[in-house]
This record gives sequence, C-alpha cells and structure tokens, in this order.
Amino acid sequence: MKILTTVKEVREYVKNARMAGKTVGLVPTMGYLHEGHASLVKKSVAECDVTVVSIFVNPTQFAPNEDFDAYPRDLERDVKLLTECGADCVFHPEADEMYFPDATTTIVPDVLSKNLCGKTRPIHFGGVCTVVGKLFNIVTPDKAFFGQKDAQQLAIIKRMVRDLNFGVEIVGCPIIREEDGLAKSSRNTYLNPDERKAALCLSQAVKLGREMVLAGEKSTKVILDKMIKHIEKEPLAKIDYVQAVDMSMQDVDTICGETLFAMAVYIGKTRLIDNFIID
Ligand code: PAF
Repeated sequence: MKILTTVKEVREYVKNARMAGKTVGLVPTMGYLHEGHASLVKKSVAECDVTVVSIFVNPTQFAPNEDFDAYPRDLERDVKLLTECGADCVFHPEADEMYFPDATTTIVPDVLSKNLCGKTRPIHFGGVCTVVGKLFNIVTPDKAFFGQKDAQQLAIIKRMVRDLNFGVEIVGCPIIREEDGLAKSSRNTYLNPDERKAALCLSQAVKLGREMVLAGEKSTKVILDKMIKHIEKEPLAKIDYVQAVDMSMQDVDTICGETLFAMAVYIGKTRLIDNFIID
C-alpha cells in the first residue's frame, strides 16, 4: 500500500490508475480507524479498482473549544488496518499541504447545516464541505464512501455534490455497532468505564424509537418523548438534541417519507451521535 503526503503525488498516482483504465474509490477519514471505517474501505475495494483512503484531522471543522488537539491519532495502527482491508493508497497530508495560509475560498452549506449538529457546531459543516470538496478535486474519485452514523454530514455532502456538479457518486454505508449496540466512533476512546456503560443509552434510545415506529406510531413527538425520557434516566448523559427531521434536515411532526431520528448526547465531556432512518 502506498502512503502519500502531497497533492502532487496523489494526482500522479490517480492519473496512472486512470491511464490503466481503473476506477477510483475514495474513503475520506480523520484516522484512528475502527470497524466502521473498515466497512467503508471494504465496500470501496469491492466496488472500485483502486481505493484511496485519506487520513487528515481537518482543523477547519473544529471550533476552538472542541477536541482538535485531543482527537486520537495513530498512523501506524491505521496503516495496518488499511493493509488488511485491501486499500491501495493512503493520503496523509499535513495541514499546510491542504490549506494555503491566505486561502479565501470555502464551501458554505446552507439550510441543511443549520439544524441538528449545526446548531451546536455552527462552523463544522463548512469545514467538512471545504475539505471534502478539496479531496474530491485532488483524488477525482468515481465513488466516495461515507458512514450513515454521520447522517447529517452524508445528506449535506450528497447535496453539495448535486449542487456543485462534482462528478462523484456518494455511497452511504450502514452504522457499525459494538456487540452491545454502541455505534463505533473514534471518540469512544475518550470514555472511561462508567461512561462507556452510560453511552449505551444512545443505542438503547435508537432501539426504542425504531420499535415504536415498527409498532405503527406515526407521531414523532410521542416517539422522541420516549427516547428523551430514556436518555434522561442516565445520570452521566446530557442531551444536546434528539430530533426527527426529513432529508432536508427540517423538523417533522409526523413520519411520512424518509425520516431521520438523530441525536447528540454528551456522556461526561464526550459528545456522541447516533441515529436511525425510517424510509
Ligand atoms: O467524517 C469524518 O471523519 C470527517 O468529517 C471527514 C468526512 C473525513 C471530513 O474531514
């Protein structure tokens, strides 16, 4: 597996793959990879001839009070996992390779980024779109793979690709969970043993909500109330939001069409997200 650090090297690598008639898949990540990322890489390996995985803890999607410095990093471990998954190339740039110090152009997503995570993290999705847009321009993939755990991110990226005519197909992949239900996340590593137990209230609320929908409940208020009450029983949990929205990320009172039930909950200082989608 190739490990490349400059834009020029990646462009050259992709150019050679294209000249050999190969299709290219991209899996953008911030590293500290887990089985959720592995599932994206394996899907890309299955669907594309060449898989490029970017590992870049993107500073522009973190606010100054957030965990950019603390975000876990372990390139050696990531490279091992990616080799096992069959990735072909890792793009691991430094921040000054990705961002010009005097850059003035960014991508700013509009309506879809204002609700849910965007309320607490107002600059987050602008940073995500800008870096993902740059990665699309650098790697020019045929397909790019994103996890459904970041459901709002996935919806925003799909809209960005449509709105700005990026020539890439976005593939959403299911949430991968621990055996006890906790959604896999690099941030789970922040949790101490008590918090790890407490964190189960998110996936339990997801299960509860899904069961109510399957039992025929249509009122999102009734479902959300039950989910919220369940989370509030956990003393270490503090709800950021638990909401039901349509795929434009607007709140809905009744389930009709595709509906996303999404939540962000602080367990101690760690902010975790989880969700389920009803089609
Ligand atoms: O989901 C992530 O890990 C990041 O937001 C992404 C898409 C790699 C952009 O930095």
